[in-house]
Amino acid sequence: MKFQVPRGTRDILPGEVERWLWLEDRTRRTLALYGYREVRTPIFEATELFVRSVGEATDIVRKELYTFQDRKGRSLTLRPEGTAPLVRAYIENAPVRAEIPARLYYMGPMFRYERPQAGRYRQFWQIGAELLGSAKPEADAEMIDLFRSILWDVGLRDVIVLLNSLGDSVCRPRYREAIRAYFMEHQDALCGDCRERLDTNPLRILDCKVPSCAPVIARAPSVLESLCGPCAEHFAAVKRALDGLGIRNEEAPRLVRGLDYYTRTVFEIQSEGLGAQNAVGGGGRYDQLVKDFGGPDTPAIGFSIGMERLLLATESSGESGTTAPDACVVALEPGAALEAQILARRLRGQDDLPEGRKPLRVLVDVAGRSASSQMKWASKTGARWAVFVPKQGDGYAVRDMAAGKDEAKQPTDEALREWLLARIDRGEPREALR
Ligand code: HAM
Repeated sequence: MKFQVPRGTRDILPGEVERWLWLEDRTRRTLALYGYREVRTPIFEATELFVRSVGEATDIVRKELYTFQDRKGRSLTLRPEGTAPLVRAYIENAPVRAEIPARLYYMGPMFRYERPQAGRYRQFWQIGAELLGSAKPEADAEMIDLFRSILWDVGLRDVIVLLNSLGDSVCRPRYREAIRAYFMEHQDALCGDCRERLDTNPLRILDCKVPSCAPVIARAPSVLESLCGPCAEHFAAVKRALDGLGIRNEEAPRLVRGLDYYTRTVFEIQSEGLGAQNAVGGGGRYDQLVKDFGGPDTPAIGFSIGMERLLLATESSGESGTTAPDACVVALEPGAALEAQILARRLRGQDDLPEGRKPLRVLVDVAGRSASSQMKWASKTGARWAVFVPKQGDGYAVRDMAAGKDEAKQPTDEALREWLLARIDRGEPREALR
């Protein structure tokens, strides 16, 4: 029987993993610069958590949840997103709430039963940041600025921020009714899904990608024109702040996003290089969610970035994924295999690596190869040097693999280590080592 990776999931293999690590490192660094701290929540949660927050009428809840019963019959769901779990954790853990506003982030896999295509998977990774405890437009601006900085730092510069406001409990119901009335009038021109949405979620019609719906959607009333005074002022203040911070942004009155918890500001960052799935990430305000979950009245805002999409968009930058060893230890005779292993360990510096001393990446054959096949293997690994055991006469022989040249023998393993380090320091960058 032959097994395959489940549809919509991928193995992330050596070579690619280095780029993931690089991206994670860089992003963590930027998040730390802005004062955000990591929270790790479970991969699964009570199903109700997502139904109540993401929304019963959304595609995510209706069609995309991975839901199962545990042995005691509890309904659990693999998280389709990170905001609802983070809000649950925020309410449940007083220390997280001590700082106001709280600046938090998460990184990890999410699960949605979607139709797989380029940039869209059933298991995908998100980096998300959430700021809980401020209703001010400055918080919105910080979030979008942070989002932009993360992208900037990994080399993604040519992006556009699409910005909209969905209003609040005063103006949104009014808009919802207006748009429902408008689409009711034109329902003959709508697709089947949208006709269903008329009753369940009329705002989502604005997001429909079916071409026949496009002309009706284009003439629909704009949410920005129906905002109440305070929402309009908030939106204008966010735009002023973004302009002041030099962040390119565009009003997008049709941007509604696929989750029900949003209030006021919603945004998406797009990168042209991504094709159809061009949203690197998105987010928005959710001023009611903490309260809806039984927590204190806490306005909040956040965003998530899709890691696969960010990787696609930054293909040309970052770590190349080179993991070639610095040296291979070659055992010249079968009886020297253990000695080779011991020398490799000493050279790596693993026995006594003092603070600040550099490690060496050293491989040794454990497949019982002959000396000549060890040399072939060493050259295939891309190692810069081969070193030989047992010692010959007064020292360890060393060969520069690229030049095919024998170097001066080194009398001890410590001298050999220093010799290798001195040469490596001249050339290669060492960040790839972790
Ligand atoms: P979302 O728009 O559903 O928002 O997802 C955010 C990002 O995750 C998307 O823009 C995309 O890059 C990535 N993404 C979503 N689904 C997939 C998929 N099937 N395959 C690959 N990438 C995907 C949220 O999840 C909200 N929690 C964002 C947020 C945080 N709002 C407030 N705080």
